[in-house]
Amino acid sequence: MTYTNLHFQYLAGIIFTALILTQFGCQKAASGVDYATQQQAVFDSAAVVTAHPLASEAGKEILRAGGNAVDAAVAAQFALAVVCPRAGNLGGGGFMVIRTAAGESAALDYREKAPAAATADMYLDSLGNVIDGISRDGHLSVGVPGTVAGMATAHRHYGSGISFGDLLQPALRYARQGFRITAAEAERLNTYKEDFLKYNAEKNTPFLKKAEWKTGDLLVQKDLAATLERIEKSGAAGFYQGKTADLILAEMQSGNGLITQADLDNYAAKQRKPLIGDYKNYRIISMPPPSSGGVALMQILEAVEDYPLADYGFNSAEATHLIVEAERRAYADRAEFLGDSDFYPVPLDTLLDPEYVRGRMSDFSATRATPSDSILAGNKNLLPESFETTHTSVIDAAGNAVSVTTTLNLNYGSKVIVNGAGFFLNDEMDDFSAKPGVPNYFGLVGAEANKIEPGKRMLSSMTPTIIEKDGELFMTLGSPGGSTIITSVFQVFINVAEFDMTLPEAIAAKRFHHQWLPNVVMTETDTPLDTVALKQLGHEIAPNKRLGLVKAIMVTEDGKLSTVGDPRNPDDDVSGF
Ligand code: GLY
Repeated sequence: MTYTNLHFQYLAGIIFTALILTQFGCQKAASGVDYATQQQAVFDSAAVVTAHPLASEAGKEILRAGGNAVDAAVAAQFALAVVCPRAGNLGGGGFMVIRTAAGESAALDYREKAPAAATADMYLDSLGNVIDGISRDGHLSVGVPGTVAGMATAHRHYGSGISFGDLLQPALRYARQGFRITAAEAERLNTYKEDFLKYNAEKNTPFLKKAEWKTGDLLVQKDLAATLERIEKSGAAGFYQGKTADLILAEMQSGNGLITQADLDNYAAKQRKPLIGDYKNYRIISMPPPSSGGVALMQILEAVEDYPLADYGFNSAEATHLIVEAERRAYADRAEFLGDSDFYPVPLDTLLDPEYVRGRMSDFSATRATPSDSILAGNKNLLPESFETTHTSVIDAAGNAVSVTTTLNLNYGSKVIVNGAGFFLNDEMDDFSAKPGVPNYFGLVGAEANKIEPGKRMLSSMTPTIIEKDGELFMTLGSPGGSTIITSVFQVFINVAEFDMTLPEAIAAKRFHHQWLPNVVMTETDTPLDTVALKQLGHEIAPNKRLGLVKAIMVTEDGKLSTVGDPRNPDDDVSGF
């Protein structure tokens, strides 16, 4: 595998087509819950896949109106902030990877940042122990949000010319008119009611109501609509300044949060050099730090590339053992070396050097698992219970591709709703290493590279990725799932590239995951893996309900777009034409 850094500054302008958004008004909002969700389809020209039918509809609406893939992704992101409040967001952050039809690539970082008042020991007690929970819940867990700056930057640098306000119209409709919640959303809102009450009991918020939520209930978000209107009018300033900013600051003060107006003023999305590496005749374009996703994905691919995975066979003990050992080593490097490269000298060239990765595999044994526990103690009980984050993939009719993953961290983030502004704030501070070697929610440990520092971005696992095959656009994909994102993306690609699966087969196939610590192979319920053989090799198996929710679009041999959501999430939906 070879690796190069490419920097792409601006996409060539795409011809602006007059936009008459009112022609494309979505008939689904407020009209019932018959979303007729479609989880896979083949489209001729353009496609969107998101975690909610109304967000996919928003993306398609913009594509139909002449917007490009970036415009569609921005519209879908704002729509998700309304219809998928557990992860779609204004109060969080994310990453966007772009590949133009001309083959240029770009990466946009709108990850949250630690407030200026944050300190390395802010989650430790007087004895230096991590105080459980405060990096995950409530006002102190909130990083400075990046999403609105990210969407404005994406639109300005990579959009087709359609106005930013126009991209907000679907989200505004859904917020103002309301939308019917799905069964999955009703269940989640009921599950998290006690958490919402903890931080929002005195607020007039539609997320708290006496009765149980039911499928098809109408969720109208007037405060959120007003916030979106301010963003429509003033762009990012409608969020980081003026009334929305005042409401964020008042919310922070009410709960001893750290974010100040200076933090909001100083937030800017960053254009980064995408990571680019090759696997056989495929080229992988993915996210650099502060994501660990691109580095770890490329390390795992490099580590397995020289082995005959296809001959070993899908789900064979040989293939699984090899992949697990490659993952173990990549996640060990993640813990030690990865963090925000604006603050820490991440040794990217070394980590992605094929010689280095091969060297890491030099102690690989085909007949026994390598122990992980010689350096740090992982907590085997810390396996993720909930799934968070959300991913969107888009390809437009011109062949531009976008892969965008966004998050509040855990479901509904910190659970804090900004009073009067109607959106949840993230709990992304938990993605920092609160103390070297102490695992975060996802069981991930970290060190100096990912320690808390004012203005620093916390390390992420989000892995928005675009893949070329023989120089042509082949696939755009990504996933939610915290630490399991990287391995979910890896497995879907390998299922196609090595195990000859169609995209629906590759996404539906049961997944497994290893992250060095805790030293277990996480497997999905009813895994077809040969767990007896894996145990004989020395692996401990830890069943988990599900791993990742991959959303991908693949260009088929006849040039069509195989567009697939994850059957693990009933709300995943594809749209296109
Ligand atoms: N909050 C999950 C991630 O960024 O990896």
